[in-house]
Amino acid sequence: MTTAVLALREALAHSPGNVPLRVHLARTLLEAGRADEAAIEARAAVAQDGDRADAREVLGAAAAALGDDAALVEAWFPIRTQLATDDVRTLALAAARSGRLTEARDTYALLNASEPTVHDLEIDRALRAPGPEAPSAPVARGTPPAPAAPPAEARRPASAEEARPPSTRPSITFADVGGLEVLKERLRMDIVYPLQRPDLFRAYGKKIGGGVLLYGPPGCGKTHLARAAAGECGANFFVVEIQAVLDMWLGESEKRLHAIFEAARAAAPSIVFFDEIEAIGGARHQVRHGPGRRLVNQLLAELDGAGASNEAVLVIGATNAPWDVDPALRRPGRFDRVVFVPPPDAAARENVLRLALRERPTETLDLASIARRCSRYSGADLHHLVEVASERALTEALRTGKMRPITQSDVLASLDRVRPTTAEWLEAARRYVAYANQSGLYDDVATYLRGLETGG
Ligand SMILES: Nc1ncnc2c1ncn2[C@@H]1O[C@H](COP(=O)(O)OP(=O)(O)OP(=O)(O)O)[C@@H](O)[C@H]1O
Ligand SMILES: [Mg+2]
Repeated sequence: MTTAVLALREALAHSPGNVPLRVHLARTLLEAGRADEAAIEARAAVAQDGDRADAREVLGAAAAALGDDAALVEAWFPIRTQLATDDVRTLALAAARSGRLTEARDTYALLNASEPTVHDLEIDRALRAPGPEAPSAPVARGTPPAPAAPPAEARRPASAEEARPPSTRPSITFADVGGLEVLKERLRMDIVYPLQRPDLFRAYGKKIGGGVLLYGPPGCGKTHLARAAAGECGANFFVVEIQAVLDMWLGESEKRLHAIFEAARAAAPSIVFFDEIEAIGGARHQVRHGPGRRLVNQLLAELDGAGASNEAVLVIGATNAPWDVDPALRRPGRFDRVVFVPPPDAAARENVLRLALRERPTETLDLASIARRCSRYSGADLHHLVEVASERALTEALRTGKMRPITQSDVLASLDRVRPTTAEWLEAARRYVAYANQSGLYDDVATYLRGLETGG
């Protein structure tokens, strides 16, 4: 174990920017029972890339080992939807114990959504005021609790930190997005230039704001692109997780959504990003009344800027299932620009590979020839390919104790182990294009599919 740690530290000294390697070191330290050192490395990894779930995962686990509730909440709360159920419970408890009640309630609701039968007395007790014997029912998705008096602590006015919805200023830009040049130019016109040259846009009578809906197969860069767009124009980036908002207490979801939009307006220029936006349309579809419906209405009101100016507030939605998105959301002034994010073409794939490999030791690679063999691979698939190839080289380096670069044959040998994941989505899209494209909404997909058929 010690030799593995030494080899990893040595490799890291060669490429300090290699976040996956640092995460690997942190995990190895944690497994060796060296939680304090693990926490230091994991914290550094999170500082380098706060979006990496694996870095946050190790940091939280190290904090748990050290009994540091506050650090655990910092690390895990942003990735709560990706945690195993036991860890969600640990997070809820740590949040309740350290007085982070908003986080505690969010997390507890999440726990109840995945296991509606769970009554966790310990968390209940930490969350609720001492009072009636029977613990009140936990919150389950779609069935908010009867409007019983909220727990005393919950009535405590939220601190400024709790009340302020989290936003970030992404450091990535379009330069970090491989390919998709036409799309980038379209987004520049829609959201970057308007923020850079509001005077020009006003002079031509163009509104600065509005919404763009990105759709396409998983892993092809919708989220990445939205984040990069914010980085490109220096906007504040607000992420709305619809499921988490839907899971909130009665009446809280609408308030939360409103608070996010208010914060975005106050921090303009901002981008508000809705991932998996079909979830909200789906809610409206299934539930004519009730929380889903009220949330859709609230969202429509926010998009229309009822009583407030949405100037320089841009809204980006992303979905794998545009056919499930509530049509009301696509009316003018809402998500009226609908953009297909296709799997990367060969040039884009080469670019993504180059980006994924840029901080790793490699021999001179023929990326063009690799890219040609990765038809229909998503950006995420290509990242995965690079991970697998790197692991090959790393494993050998650990065995021999010597660094060696990643070779062409590492990558080629990894192709068999990483299959493209876009096929299923493209198949579904083919059916929608054939039967449900009267409005021409999916023309971009139709063009793309035709290109595939003619061997593009
Ligand atoms: N064009 C690209 N250039 C660089 N990296 C990319 C590109 N496309 C995807 N990636 C990488 O793949 C990962 C997955 O992409 P992303 O999360 O943006 O996909 P998505 O379209 O939002 O998928 P999902 O529908 O599953 O949410 C990103 O973190 C990014 O590293
Ligand atoms: Mg995404």
